[in-house]
Amino acid sequence: MKVLILGAHGMLGQALARVFADFSPALWDKDELDITDSSAVKKRLVELNPELIINTAAFTDVDGAEENKKLAHELNGKAVKNLVDVANEIGATFVQYSTAYVFDGKNPDGYKEEDLPNPSSVYGESKLEGEREAVKAKKYYILRLDRLFGKAGEGKTSFIDKMLELAKTKKKLTVIADEYGCPTYAPDLAKRTREILEKQMPNGVYHCANEGSCSWYEWAREIFKIKGIDIELKKAKATDFSRKATRPKYGVLNNTKLPKMRSWKKALAEYLE
Ligand SMILES: NC(=O)c1ccc[n+]([C@@H]2O[C@H](COP(=O)([O-])OP(=O)(O)OC[C@H]3O[C@@H](n4cnc5c(N)ncnc54)[C@H](OP(=O)(O)O)[C@@H]3O)[C@@H](O)[C@H]2O)c1
Repeated sequence: MKVLILGAHGMLGQALARVFADFSPALWDKDELDITDSSAVKKRLVELNPELIINTAAFTDVDGAEENKKLAHELNGKAVKNLVDVANEIGATFVQYSTAYVFDGKNPDGYKEEDLPNPSSVYGESKLEGEREAVKAKKYYILRLDRLFGKAGEGKTSFIDKMLELAKTKKKLTVIADEYGCPTYAPDLAKRTREILEKQMPNGVYHCANEGSCSWYEWAREIFKIKGIDIELKKAKATDFSRKATRPKYGVLNNTKLPKMRSWKKALAEYLE
């Protein structure tokens, strides 16, 4: 099967490249194809003629999106339309990734796949626009995740990188303890993507985070525990920090369609050890 992975240098793109290595996928990032350029998308995709298009390319800077609304919508929304149009023309299956930030996060019980989205940030709105384009593909999967972790793309730092870097110079850290999410390990999500495709699951939305949820504080505490780092952690409220974007208080993705993935703690331990 001819496979194309877009955003291949990013955190998820790199993990997918490993999981789909036996297909020798085409690994394209911005330099190979700018997915916001509709005529280039059409030309290059028709030439390559993949049977499977996996799109991880996105505008992922949640605060940055508040100031770059147009770009966020172009990349997370309109570019998805560019890809879907060609996927339909060449008969390719289309995989799009989305986020817990499409929900308002007011429900402490979290969100099922079919719950009504109601984003509270530009990033969430733009990713929802992408979902609405993705469902127009004849064969599609929308996989939602939250708080991705793994090897970051070049020049980028993850939450884990930031915590470990800060711990080198600080004796005490203050971390938000009233915002919850579901850490998702990029290699586990890449494997889950392949399982969904191989099992030929019905078109639709799937929640693909590792099992369990935690606050940023609980996540940081687990990182330091696994690494054996002795640091004083203090709980903060989300409102103690000034951030441009509003995040869901309970960005919790309930998976009701697929077997459970392993817990985020197990995945984190494997990653850090
Ligand atoms: N990271 C998270 O915590 C998180 C949470 C929920 C959902 N998601 C979703 O998961 C997916 C993967 O995220 P990720 O963290 O792996 O992203 P990432 O590391 O930022 O990777 C995205 C890749 O796409 C590239 N790209 C940017 N603009 C492009 C363009 N116009 N054309 C082609 N490629 C372009 C980026 O290049 P540059 O780096 O040079 O811009 C980067 O290499 C995204 O759909 C994201 O919205 C991520």
